[in-house]
Amino acid sequence: MPRVSVRRLFVYAIYTVVVTSLVMLAFHVQQQNPLWIKVLEQSSGQDGYYQHNSKELDDEPNNFDVINNNESKISADNDINKTIASMNPLRRHGLPWYIKNDGYRPSQDDLVYNVWPVSRLKGDRIEEQLMIPSRNIDGTSSNVPAGALKPNLKKIFLPNGLGSWQTKSGQKVFTEQKCPVDRCSLTSNRDEAANADAIMFKDFFASPSHQRSPHQIWIMYMLECPLHTQYIREKDVFNWTATYKSESELVTPYEKWVYYDEKIKRKPVITNFAANKTKKVAWFVSNCGAKNNRLEYAHALQKHIDVDIYGSCGTKNCPRHSGDHCLDILSTDYKFYLAFENSNCRDYITEKFYVNGLGSKVLPIVMGAPRADYEKHAPEHSFIHVDDFASPKQLADYLHLLNSNDTLYNEYFEWKETGQFINTYFFCRLCSMLHEASYSPPRYYDDFNEWWRGGTNCIKGSWRDLEKHQRNK
Ligand SMILES: *[C@@H]1O[C@H](CO)[C@@H](O)[C@H](O)[C@H]1NC(C)=O
Ligand SMILES: *[C@@H]1O[C@H](CO)[C@@H](O)[C@H](O)[C@H]1NC(C)=O
Ligand SMILES: *[C@@H]1O[C@H](CO)[C@@H](O)[C@H](O)[C@H]1NC(C)=O
Ligand SMILES: *[C@@H]1O[C@H](CO)[C@@H](O)[C@H](O)[C@H]1NC(C)=O
Ligand SMILES: *[C@@H]1O[C@H](CO)[C@@H](O)[C@H](O)[C@H]1NC(C)=O
Repeated sequence: MPRVSVRRLFVYAIYTVVVTSLVMLAFHVQQQNPLWIKVLEQSSGQDGYYQHNSKELDDEPNNFDVINNNESKISADNDINKTIASMNPLRRHGLPWYIKNDGYRPSQDDLVYNVWPVSRLKGDRIEEQLMIPSRNIDGTSSNVPAGALKPNLKKIFLPNGLGSWQTKSGQKVFTEQKCPVDRCSLTSNRDEAANADAIMFKDFFASPSHQRSPHQIWIMYMLECPLHTQYIREKDVFNWTATYKSESELVTPYEKWVYYDEKIKRKPVITNFAANKTKKVAWFVSNCGAKNNRLEYAHALQKHIDVDIYGSCGTKNCPRHSGDHCLDILSTDYKFYLAFENSNCRDYITEKFYVNGLGSKVLPIVMGAPRADYEKHAPEHSFIHVDDFASPKQLADYLHLLNSNDTLYNEYFEWKETGQFINTYFFCRLCSMLHEASYSPPRYYDDFNEWWRGGTNCIKGSWRDLEKHQRNK
């Protein structure tokens, strides 16, 4: 063996020990800190929508206890806080399966990590849900409660039919997607409704006729935002929701960005994203009457910078059959794209932003959810929010500045190589969570309508004005 590699091996071994200890410590803190549990209780109480006691959550046996980590040594490390903060425990075995085809799949000895909603600000738990191990196959794994049996197939009844889900009946969807937990089966047969473990309504709810068992989990799946979905008055009907909102049990975003490494959120841009572009702002839009006054905003912006409006609300045309070509011109001709949603609702961020905007080589200007929500979901420094500016004129001034400085403009593309938009395997997560529910107290929405539409979930004006208004009160 060459001399140098012995030394390297030694350094590497020390590095591994330190990093491993830090991971252990991070687990330890999260697992055993009673404060953390308190926070859970408080936030669920304040929200008022969830009825559950929370002492259950993540009350897993800690199988890392056996390892003696020297905490006094670790806390002497100046970088400890930074290291722990940047460490994603789901990456401790390298890239997971949902990022890399042959990446790490959860094994029976893995912990279950914070998979239930805590509060709006705690994130969507999608990655955690994708890493739930199939934990009670034979009742011998360290995480399995004594006496646990081989998990039954969970039967899921889809009252709106299989067609609306574009999927097949039975276990196929779970096995074909190689879900970590695949012991689930779909059916649209009404005769099976009463005995199903879960009923999942899609966009539309009508009360089933059978007597409901307290063990049957009723799930409401909504694709659109509150302004475009059925008005449901019934109380106490849903146990879980599947929506784009971060507090849903199963969050279903339009796209989900994940970094390969939480510590690397930007990389120097090699290509010049401004090269050869001769036009400034573009917008594709067909619904001219959106309630958030986006059209008025675009017209005001037009007074200060060139805005090409394609579609029935504007003067430019890009025929629908040449759909791809429409998107191409964003990458080749335009510097900016108006990714304006049709409603200003919290967490509501659609393909307009992810596909038209981030998917092209163009800088999206967003209107829709509050800035904090875009920061939560989007790659770092990947967009401009209209609320960053007091007026369309001030936004236009900033766009002129970016237009004149390629360095500044290209900074908005430094996220491009640092991660990917993942498949969030909705059915895999559904199956994992249904099995996970056995270890968790019942939960339900006592007023779904209030949770979905109430308060400031969706507003007519801008978030900027709302905040100003609330500050002045
Ligand atoms: C932990 O590290 C400290 C400081 O390096 C040392 O004094 C102490 O003996 C160590 N304790 C154990 C249990 O290894
Ligand atoms: C780490 O964070 C804690 C709590 O926020 C703080 O008290 C402590 O000084 C920090 N330690 C270092 C080394 O920065
Ligand atoms: C810009 O145009 C030149 C000449 O047509 C071409 O060689 C170059 O690849 C283009 N750059 C980009 C980023 O498209
Ligand atoms: C362009 O922006 C960069 C980054 O802020 C700055 O360093 C540079 O001086 C600017 N160039 C011009 C010509 O203003
Ligand atoms: C489902 O919700 C109902 C009330 O709507 C409740 O009685 C039941 O305990 C819940 N079941 C589960 C498994 O959460």
